[in-house]
Amino acid sequence: MSHTLPALPYSLNALEPHMDAMTVELHWSKHHQTYITKLNEALPAFSDRISLDLASLQKVVAGTNAAVINNAGGHYNHCLYWQNLAPIGSSNPQPFGDLAGLIDSSFGSFDEFKQKFTTAAVSRFASGWAFLTLKNDGTLAVHNTPGHDNPLMDGIGDVHGIPILTCDIWEHAYYLKYQNRRPEFVENWWRIVNWDAVVNNFEKYAKNGQAVPF
Ligand SMILES: [Fe+2]
Repeated sequence: MSHTLPALPYSLNALEPHMDAMTVELHWSKHHQTYITKLNEALPAFSDRISLDLASLQKVVAGTNAAVINNAGGHYNHCLYWQNLAPIGSSNPQPFGDLAGLIDSSFGSFDEFKQKFTTAAVSRFASGWAFLTLKNDGTLAVHNTPGHDNPLMDGIGDVHGIPILTCDIWEHAYYLKYQNRRPEFVENWWRIVNWDAVVNNFEKYAKNGQAVPF
């Protein structure tokens, strides 16, 4: 299959002022698109994987090559990232239902979870991603990954499960507005998290052991 850039579920300026329209446009139409283009170029060398959907492909990227690993991860992670964002006021401002309870029991409170996630995002050296993941043992983990690695990738990294929330901490995600101030970007990113989508990812997919499909 040929992978394509999904439409954003909001307008380019809908996340202002915390995420500016120029950053969203370049990040989505240039950076994300480039990962998809390169993935489509790299996949034909692995004919047994070319027909897989994007989520299934993540499971079996180990054993391909750097181009497939980096660009398959880059495509999947960005799909989750865009879906995890929403204009202020259009989503519940924090998790609810079973996910809220599991966050409280796992991390102490929602605030303690946010602190731990923020630390994971800010402390990752150079480029990478921060994740909230429902691990294969049924517990939640906050963690970060280098490059475009994600917890769906068997044999890559040390946390494996279903990612339900992610924050892009590559400089291209924030440099135009925040320059080197990654902590300020992450602080404002919390204001535009789409908790309705994250809870849906947990209830509909992660609880059933399924990767969120894109
Ligand atoms: Fe990115």
